[in-house]
Amino acid sequence: MMIARFNFYPPCPRPDHMLGLKPHADGTAITFLLQDKEVEGLQILKDGQWFRVPIIPHALLINVGDQAEAINHGMESSFLDKVREIAKQFFLLPIEEKHKYSRTVEDLEGYGNDSVLSEHQILDWTDRLYLIVSPEDQRKLKFWPQNPECFREILHDYTTKLAMLNELVLKSMAKSLNLEENCFLNQYGERAMMFGRFNFYPPCPRPDRTLGLKPHADGSAITFLLQDKEVEGLQILKDGQWFRVPIIPHALLINVGDQAEIMSNGMFKSPVHRVVTNSERERITLAVFCMPESNNEIEPVEGLIDEKRPRWNNISTVKGNFDWLAVGCNCTEEERLGGVEEVVVKIGISGFWLVVDG
Ligand SMILES: [Fe+2]
Repeated sequence: MMIARFNFYPPCPRPDHMLGLKPHADGTAITFLLQDKEVEGLQILKDGQWFRVPIIPHALLINVGDQAEAINHGMESSFLDKVREIAKQFFLLPIEEKHKYSRTVEDLEGYGNDSVLSEHQILDWTDRLYLIVSPEDQRKLKFWPQNPECFREILHDYTTKLAMLNELVLKSMAKSLNLEENCFLNQYGERAMMFGRFNFYPPCPRPDRTLGLKPHADGSAITFLLQDKEVEGLQILKDGQWFRVPIIPHALLINVGDQAEIMSNGMFKSPVHRVVTNSERERITLAVFCMPESNNEIEPVEGLIDEKRPRWNNISTVKGNFDWLAVGCNCTEEERLGGVEEVVVKIGISGFWLVVDG
């Protein structure tokens, strides 16, 4: 079933006494909301407090309703804080302790910065810790910090929950296109990949000349980003302009990657994004990339190919590779200009996602 409801909220002489919509939770699995582009109004309740939902230009908001809660994908905001805390504790360790987990030349995983591929390469202003999370037998525990002590356990728990969320997101995306709900998931194969990247952006003396992360689109199917709670930095490109992604307390951001773009024959777009630096405060984030089995071939779903939208011949099948993870850049902004960008932001775990354009 799909039901549409248009809402008109006229100016109200007593906003202190009147609500546009009383407090409630949606009884649906997923609700898509096209927000007003200029006037805010929506608020969500979290830990007994109401938080405003900021407007993000070209945004579509998705609310996870009661029916979706049944799959038990939920994460308390206190749990997300624990995930942030292990990241912080790791990056604050003395350098010699962090170097125990350093990436080697042969390895993509471990602690370090960009792989240096050329003499003129501009490095990102960031330290990172890359870890393969799934399949579990691919984990190289020598790179998994033992300090803080709970690091491994919390990362395991967090990514187990994300795997459930990933399934929910891909099913919802399929259903939103009137497709069989497993049509994207079926391309994941038996040994779907999940890759975690902890990012530390130190204060930068020249933020006008230095980026924390160069413009790129993710090569994953879906990326989950746990943002810093206090320091902004992420921006997305839309119609040739960079838009900041505001911080929403207890938020988890979900980004549509290239592989979802391919499987949907371009119906969902993988946005170009970047991270800017600032001169005063450090910023810590954790990106988890979900993608089909390594070397699996993916292709556009049959139901999305027709005369008006022919198969994308140049990318009809793609071999999985992780080079883009190493350099943080798999395309230039020029290559992407003019495309429709899409980003999903989840506010609270039983809350909302914002889809930037669609
Ligand atoms: Fe990215």
